[in-house]
Amino acid sequence: MILEAKNINKTYENGENTLCVLDELNLTVDKSEIITIMGESGSGKSTLLNILGTLDHPDKGEVYIQGKNVTTLPEIELAELRNCHIGFVFQFHHLLPEFTAYENILMPAMISGNEAEKRKEVDDLLAFVDLGNRKNHLPSELSGGERLRIAVLRSMINRPEVILADEPTGNLDAKNAKKMIDLFHKINQEYEQSIVITTHSQEVGAIGHRQFDLMNGKLQGKG
Ligand SMILES: Nc1ncnc2c1ncn2[C@@H]1O[C@H](COP(=O)(O)OP(=O)(O)OP(=O)(O)O)[C@@H](O)[C@H]1O
Ligand SMILES: [Mg+2]
Repeated sequence: MILEAKNINKTYENGENTLCVLDELNLTVDKSEIITIMGESGSGKSTLLNILGTLDHPDKGEVYIQGKNVTTLPEIELAELRNCHIGFVFQFHHLLPEFTAYENILMPAMISGNEAEKRKEVDDLLAFVDLGNRKNHLPSELSGGERLRIAVLRSMINRPEVILADEPTGNLDAKNAKKMIDLFHKINQEYEQSIVITTHSQEVGAIGHRQFDLMNGKLQGKG
């Protein structure tokens, strides 16, 4: 088991109102598994991915990465753990604005000191998503869909055991959404990386080995 979330609760307080977003939620992610999570806007998908990826803390419950309870680890240890084990594709991608597409993809490898061996791979990946001729563009010089593809490549460069992708086809046209699905299949099969994907798209939802709906704070398995 790569990742496990146990009895996760997350509630937001806004003045008088209490909003229970995640309610005793459980999820396990096994090696080489693709999990897709669908759910209405506001159902808590981004909140869940942030908690799985240790970017946010649950109010109750625990997160385990490769069997290790990470819920109470100090931030400095969490940052290191994330850089090695978890790749993120954020809903609003968060590329570093002053670095080129190429440098953004290479960034996790730079941080862990293995960029020399990854340089060629970055070029191969860029070619795979038809962005070879955009490698020296800054994020501000890329379209929304191009930025998203760069963010996906960045999430996988260090070969983390698990990639958490928040609506990774959200603003892509059909052709590029298909390309993204192909890329997820490729990294899943070739590199045995697990992927947790949230999506509003039935087509993306269908690629999950296990498929869930997030509803009323809980994950419900589909079919
Ligand atoms: N910091 C916060 N304070 C209060 N409420 C919040 C906060 N962050 C999120 N929420 C609320 O929690 C709920 C879940 O938000 P979340 O972003 O996880 O939804 P989502 O399923 O990712 O939606 P979308 O499909 O639109 O991206 C929403 O109703 C949102 O308004
Ligand atoms: Mg979201």
